[in-house]
Amino acid sequence: MRSKTDGRMDGPRTTESEKFTQVSAQRKAIKGVVLSSSIFFMMFILISNQSDSRKSVDCFQIIEGNASEISFAAERGNDNFATDNDIRKRAQNCTIFSGKYHFPASQEERDFPIAFSLLVHKDAVQIETLLRAIYRPHNVYCIHVDKRSTSALLDAVKSIANCLRNVFIATKLEDVIYEGYSRLQADINCMTDLLSYTEVNWKYLINLPAQEFPLKTNNEIVKILKIFNGTSSIESTYDGRFEYRVNESYIVNPKTLKVESTGRRKDPPPHNIIVGKGSAYGAFSRKFVNFAVNDIRARDILKWTEDTFSPDETFWATLAINKQLGTPGIKYTASGVPDRRLWISTSVTWNPEPCRGKYVRDICVFGVGDLHSLVLKKELFANKFYYDYQPYALICMEKWIQHKSLNSLTSDLDLKYYRDLINS
Ligand SMILES: *[C@@H]1O[C@H](CO)[C@@H](O)[C@H](O)[C@H]1NC(C)=O
Ligand SMILES: *[C@@H]1O[C@H](CO)[C@@H](O)[C@H](O)[C@H]1NC(C)=O
Ligand SMILES: *[C@@H]1O[C@H](CO)[C@@H](O)[C@H](O)[C@H]1NC(C)=O
Ligand SMILES: *[C@@H]1O[C@H](CO)[C@@H](O)[C@H](O)[C@H]1NC(C)=O
Repeated sequence: MRSKTDGRMDGPRTTESEKFTQVSAQRKAIKGVVLSSSIFFMMFILISNQSDSRKSVDCFQIIEGNASEISFAAERGNDNFATDNDIRKRAQNCTIFSGKYHFPASQEERDFPIAFSLLVHKDAVQIETLLRAIYRPHNVYCIHVDKRSTSALLDAVKSIANCLRNVFIATKLEDVIYEGYSRLQADINCMTDLLSYTEVNWKYLINLPAQEFPLKTNNEIVKILKIFNGTSSIESTYDGRFEYRVNESYIVNPKTLKVESTGRRKDPPPHNIIVGKGSAYGAFSRKFVNFAVNDIRARDILKWTEDTFSPDETFWATLAINKQLGTPGIKYTASGVPDRRLWISTSVTWNPEPCRGKYVRDICVFGVGDLHSLVLKKELFANKFYYDYQPYALICMEKWIQHKSLNSLTSDLDLKYYRDLINS
């Protein structure tokens, strides 16, 4: 186990073997009390490789739900985050930079490449943390950088992309307005680029904002998506409460850059469809992506959403809910609606569900106290983290997922759970 982890973690390594012995001894002493699985045992060793004169945060204890360690870490800030410019500089030497991107991939993973569409607008440090967690050399990554981002951010992302052959910036960049059409167009741009990226025959596409973080390793995601066998994971319901988003024409107010209704009634949607409501994010089969981008009816629908409110939350859902469109890769229940049990792409904690961090627009921004329950969730990703809010939430998530990746630990993955979702 040690040879696999050596040289791959940040931080000083001189005391590694010392710590290893020390931790092993500790582990033996408390074996069977709190450490129930070998996964946590190995993680404990890995995480304890930090050396710090102050007491360092013990991510293992945090994930185990240790209350005193959680309150210690929740208070602990970090005043030393890498700036966009720091990240750009680091990526000047690709040998050093890409050294942090070497995670093992099984033959099964290499046979099942995944495409990612990342929408970013700030904070290279968080973008890079996410990318490190999901990066594999055989996958492909399109990053859409908001046209209004600072040049420091764009330069940082360019440098990253320059070091990693299968990471690129979308060929067309949008001025992304929250709740506006450009947000959806940004994903469409990446999807279009990814469909024509011939070097990688990806099977699924996952779109992510930088504030998401994986709950499953690439290895686990592949196993789950293979079970899904071409079925997408796309939230899609009909909900009359959202009629206001599509019955009037909306435009971006150039002064406030906010999306506002013109008050003008909008024509009904084309092709006799109903308008669905769902999430902007999902796991889309390749056939679904091809349909969404190229099918003539899908294009008409996309065009129709241009002056609606938050079309990123209606377009995928609308393609999915209208069974008569024959959209590929959607599984329906006996009553003909998309099967909600398959919506496993993203875990979001909505107010008033328990949140140990803070709510922002009714969505929980996770704190360190949330990790204990998060790591048990069935979804592929969790939304959302802020790198500078209780920084150890993201730091410990990264250590946890890196450890699982480095050791190909999938034994705790309940494949039967996913099989039962799709086979009934
Ligand atoms: C909780 O973590 C502290 C270190 O912060 C440790 O001393 C204590 O033994 C842990 N408690 C349990 C129940 O493991
Ligand atoms: C990158 O860093 C390595 C290791 O320090 C060094 O050997 C190499 O010359 C550097 N490359 C460039 C282009 O600076
Ligand atoms: C997966 O889907 C294909 C058709 O797309 C089908 O032929 C095959 O039987 C499916 N595999 C399983 C295990 O359901
Ligand atoms: C659109 O729907 C909302 C809410 O259902 C309603 O209040 C509004 O009057 C509708 N607008 C038009 C132009 O019909």
